[in-house]
Amino acid sequence: MPVLVVVGAQWGDEGKGKIIDLLTERADVVARYQGGHNAGHTVVVGKDEFILHLIPSGILHKGKKCLIGNGVVVDPAALIEEMDGLIARGIRFEGSLMISGNAHLIMPYHKALDVASESLKGEKKIGTTGRGIGPAYADKISRAGIRMADLLDPQGFRDKLRQHTATANFLLEKYYGAAPVDDGRIYDEYMAYGKRLAKHIDDASLFLGEALRKGRKVLAEGAQGTHLDVDHGTYPFVTSSSPTAGGACTGLGIGPTTITGVMGIVKAYTTRVGSGPFPTELQDATGELLRDRGREYGATTGRARRCGWYDVLVIRHAARVNGLTSVAITKLDVLDGIDEIKICVGYKHKGKLYEEMPADLSVLEACTPQYITMPGWKESTVGVTKYDKLPKKARTYLEKICRLSGVKPSLISTGARRDETIILERPFQKPVVRKSTVRRKR
Ligand code: GDP
Ligand code: IMO
Ligand code: MG
Repeated sequence: MPVLVVVGAQWGDEGKGKIIDLLTERADVVARYQGGHNAGHTVVVGKDEFILHLIPSGILHKGKKCLIGNGVVVDPAALIEEMDGLIARGIRFEGSLMISGNAHLIMPYHKALDVASESLKGEKKIGTTGRGIGPAYADKISRAGIRMADLLDPQGFRDKLRQHTATANFLLEKYYGAAPVDDGRIYDEYMAYGKRLAKHIDDASLFLGEALRKGRKVLAEGAQGTHLDVDHGTYPFVTSSSPTAGGACTGLGIGPTTITGVMGIVKAYTTRVGSGPFPTELQDATGELLRDRGREYGATTGRARRCGWYDVLVIRHAARVNGLTSVAITKLDVLDGIDEIKICVGYKHKGKLYEEMPADLSVLEACTPQYITMPGWKESTVGVTKYDKLPKKARTYLEKICRLSGVKPSLISTGARRDETIILERPFQKPVVRKSTVRRKR
C-alpha cells in the first residue's frame, strides 16, 4: 500500500505541479490533502501551460483518479470555473474526479472576512491570497463550518447557512465596517453548485482505503510549503493548514503506516510570496535576475515573488518535520550563467550563530545570513536529462546543497516541461531512511 507524499520544502511555488504531473505516470491516484485555491500549480506539457488551483496536478493524465481530500477547503465557484477551463481544453472529469464530502466549503463571507481582516492589519498584513482560506479553516476548527456533503441536503444547508451568516455579518458590519453578505443569494448559488458537483462528492477516505488495500499507488499532493505550515512555518506569516507530510494523513483519512515515502520539492534557490521573514532575500539586481529568469510571479495572484539564495537551514528543517526520504531539486537552469552562487549555512544574531532554523521570528527577521560561495557555471543546463551531462560546477553545487541539507535527490528539474528532468531514482521505490537531523561536516 504505497503512498508517496509530495511536499513543498520552502515557502511554496517550488515546482510541485510539474513534479506531481511527472510522477502521476507511475501512480494510480493523485490526492490533494490541504489548502484551497490559494495554490497555483503549473504543469507544462509541450507548448501548453496549465495552472491548477484545486484540481490535483495529475488530472492531465487519462485514466488516473484525482481526489480532493477532506483537508482541502473548497470554493465551489472556483472549482467549477477551473473544471470548465479544463473541459474547454479537452479534459474530462467523469469518473476521474472525487471530492470528499467532508471537505469544508469556502463561503462568500470567508472571502469578505479575509479581505477585511487584511485591510485592517495594514502594514502588518500577512499578504494572503484573499481567497478566504484562513476564515474557512478557522470556522472548521471552531465547528462552524459547512461541508461539501451539506450541499446535498438543502434544508440542513439552509439552517447552517442562516446561523453562520448571522455571525459573519455581525463581524463584517460591526467590527470591520464592511458590507454584509446575503444568505438568500448564497443559498441559491450554492444549491446550483451542489447540483453540478453532486456526482463527484463521495467518501474519499473509503475510496483510498480500498485502493490501498488493492495495492494501488497513491500520490498525496501537498500545496503551499513547509514554512507556510500553520505549526511548523514562520507563524503568523503562514497559511492556515498543514502542508507538511503529517497533513496528508488527516487531510485524506489515511494512516501514517500507509506512507512509504515523502518527497520534498526544493527550488535550487528560494522564493516567497506575501509578508514574513526571509533571511536570504535579495533586494538587489541578483534578486531581480532570479525573478526574471525564473519567471517568479505568482501563479494565483500574479504578485512578484521575493527571491533569494538557497538556505540550508530552511531545507534541513523541512527534512526533519516531513521526514523527507528524497527531494526533487527544481529550477537549476535558472542559476545558469551566474558568476558566484551563495548558499546560506547559518544565521548570526546578536553575536550568536544559529545552525538550525530558530523558532523565534525576531531572530529570523533581524539575522545576518552566513554564506559560503560557490563558483557558478557558464554552460546552459536547460533541458538536460542526464546527470553526467550537467556542467561539473552545477553538479558540485547540487552535491553541496544536498550534503549540507541532509537530503537525497531523486529528481533534478532543468526546465518547466515534463521531459526537462533528470531522473536519478524512480518513485515508489523502497524508502531510504535518512539521518536528516544529524549534524554534518562542512
Ligand atoms: P508550485 O506551486 O510548487 O506547483 O509551483 P508554481 O507552478 O507556482 O511555480 C513554479 C514555476 O516554475 C512554474 O512556472 C513552473 O512552470 C516553473 N518550473 C518548474 N520547474 C522548473 C524548472 O526546472 N525550470 C524552470 N525554468 N521552470 C520550472
Ligand atoms: P502553492 O501551492 C506560495 C502564501 C500567501 C501568504 C500566506 C497566507 O502554489 O505553492 P493564504 O491565502 O493561504 O491565507 O495566504 O501564504 N501562500 C502561498 N505562497 N505558494 C502558494 O501555494 C501559496 N498559498 C498561500 O502568499 O503569504
Ligand atoms: Mg504555486
